[in-house]
Amino acid sequence: MSEEALVIVDRALPIAVVRMNRPKQLNALAEPLMGAVVDALTELDADHDVRCIVLAGNERAFAAGADIAEMASATPIEMALAGRVEKWDAIRRLHTPLVAAVSGFCLGGGCELAMACDLIVASDSAVFGQPETGLGIIPGAGGTQRLARAIGKAKAMDMVLSGRRLSAQEAEAAGLVARVVAREAWLDESKRLAQQIAAKAPVAQRLAKEAIERGYETPLSAGLEYERKALYLSFASEDAREGLSAFIEKREPKWQFK
Ligand code: CAA
Repeated sequence: MSEEALVIVDRALPIAVVRMNRPKQLNALAEPLMGAVVDALTELDADHDVRCIVLAGNERAFAAGADIAEMASATPIEMALAGRVEKWDAIRRLHTPLVAAVSGFCLGGGCELAMACDLIVASDSAVFGQPETGLGIIPGAGGTQRLARAIGKAKAMDMVLSGRRLSAQEAEAAGLVARVVAREAWLDESKRLAQQIAAKAPVAQRLAKEAIERGYETPLSAGLEYERKALYLSFASEDAREGLSAFIEKREPKWQFK
């Protein structure tokens, strides 16, 4: 893999790690980088031997936002025709559990990218923010929507309107982050969590992930209905037979992804 690769993919089955690699620009999400991230994630998602994916930056930055230089001269029509933000929808459509491993700056589009993942593990050095209104624009990839759902209106308003940044600890208390880990172990701890996720039944993981996602977009009654159907569907999987039998027989289950 050349040093210039925009993403570095490490398949260490049953997990894979995708690292954004534009360190001089703090992983600013220029179109080529974002394209490479989406391509890498989509390819790994199609590989059923990969049971959990970790998306990471480097120690200094997960990503410091969309690329400001790239956006500076963009017209609305160019942006719309290029489908700049639409491409991010591919992340929402991934079936494989996706962990954002965040160290350092996680700002603007970087914070939105982390929120598009299923859960965030943050180094105690991580800093979360949505500074867009200070640039005369607004968060455009979930920063006014996912953020408010994750941490509530008051804190989302504070971050978006005043530019307040949250420390890792504040982000965890607010519900943005699942776990805070020591800075020297941020990536190892994220991989350890990915291994734990990868050890569970993959069909069930997909159904559960989809049910939680669905709950964000539906009233409770519809979400509960969806959940119930997904539960019944999980009983159609051979892995459900295996998991239930393994418990009764006091042995480890062997998942077949069926
Ligand atoms: N876009 C392009 N380049 C960026 C960048 C970004 N978002 N963030 C940092 N860089 C570049 C800097 O220009 C600098 O490049 P040069 O060395 O060539 O000058 C390099 O990365 C290092 O940055 P700094 O020298 O600024 O490093 P610092 O430690 O002093 O500050 C920082 C770090 C606080 C993160 C600061 O770089 C910063 O404020 N960055 C911008 C953050 C931001 O506003 N993000 C939102 C972008 S808009 C967006 O994301 C829209 C959306 O919702 C889709």
